[in-house]
Amino acid sequence: MKADGEFDEINEAKASMDHIYDQPDPRAYFSELRKLHYNIPGAAKPIFEKLISRLRRRRDEQVRVLDLGCSYGVNAALLKHDLTMPDLYDHWGQQRFEHASPDEVVEYDKRFFGNLAEDEDLEVIGLDQAESALEFAEDVGLLDESLAVNLETEPLPDSAKQDLAAVDLIVSTGCVGYVTEKTFERLLPAVLSGSPPWLANFVLRMFPFDAIEAALAERGYVTEKLEGRTFRQRRFASGDERQQVLDQLRDQGLDPARKEADGYLHAEFYLSRPKAEAARMPIDQLLVV
Ligand SMILES: C[S@@+](CC[C@H](N)C(=O)[O-])C[C@H]1O[C@@H](n2cnc3c(N)ncnc32)[C@H](O)[C@@H]1O
Repeated sequence: MKADGEFDEINEAKASMDHIYDQPDPRAYFSELRKLHYNIPGAAKPIFEKLISRLRRRRDEQVRVLDLGCSYGVNAALLKHDLTMPDLYDHWGQQRFEHASPDEVVEYDKRFFGNLAEDEDLEVIGLDQAESALEFAEDVGLLDESLAVNLETEPLPDSAKQDLAAVDLIVSTGCVGYVTEKTFERLLPAVLSGSPPWLANFVLRMFPFDAIEAALAERGYVTEKLEGRTFRQRRFASGDERQQVLDQLRDQGLDPARKEADGYLHAEFYLSRPKAEAARMPIDQLLVV
């Protein structure tokens, strides 16, 4: 089991993207990540959609999702609307935005997203430490609610607890690694005060999930990894990053052949559900499309 200090060490192999995470609008984020073919939210979309449809059959048409490390509401944009990652890259890279102020982007996006067909029965709460990114996502209507907090260092505010009790599904893309079991430990008492949500995390192979899995197991959860499948997250930002990540993986006993060695960081998918629900239908059956 890895302590979070070891996550910090693993993170040293990865290029830092911190400068694009908390801007007043998503242009820099999408411009930088387009160059790296960042696509994990796009790869995750059909899996999250499948889980939402399963939850609708089991619970209620209205589904409330909590997106951990939601940034500018990327997963919300893909799940609420008929949009793809290439659509989002084109949208925030369009020429009309080249000299626009952040306020102009916000005003345009309120109308843009407001005019798109939307899954009215899907509510998305976003949690991130990046306050400006959250403000953007809530202003333009991608997020229904937002929670600006870093649960690695701070407790969950009391004011957030009631909204989190009604969460059906917790999702994350590109977030585990920045967050550790500490974040989950601080979230769980609040989300477990209602019907226990499912948790769906896409996690880079170099970040062991075992400490989070153990924290969830203490609360009655079973975690399954989707076997035999990995998901391209993004291209390496440089030759240096590539080398450091390959070394890191080999040190962990992971073989990068036909995966990272081909030039992309790869994520795996972990689904955590209450024990009885996991026993009723294993992950591979649940995800059959
Ligand atoms: C790679 S981005 C992923 C964003 C989005 N989920 C996506 O896939 O496009 C990582 C996100 O995690 C957020 N983050 C980093 N550390 C965090 C923490 N301790 N608590 C909450 N969010 C954090 C960053 O602000 C950033 O928005």
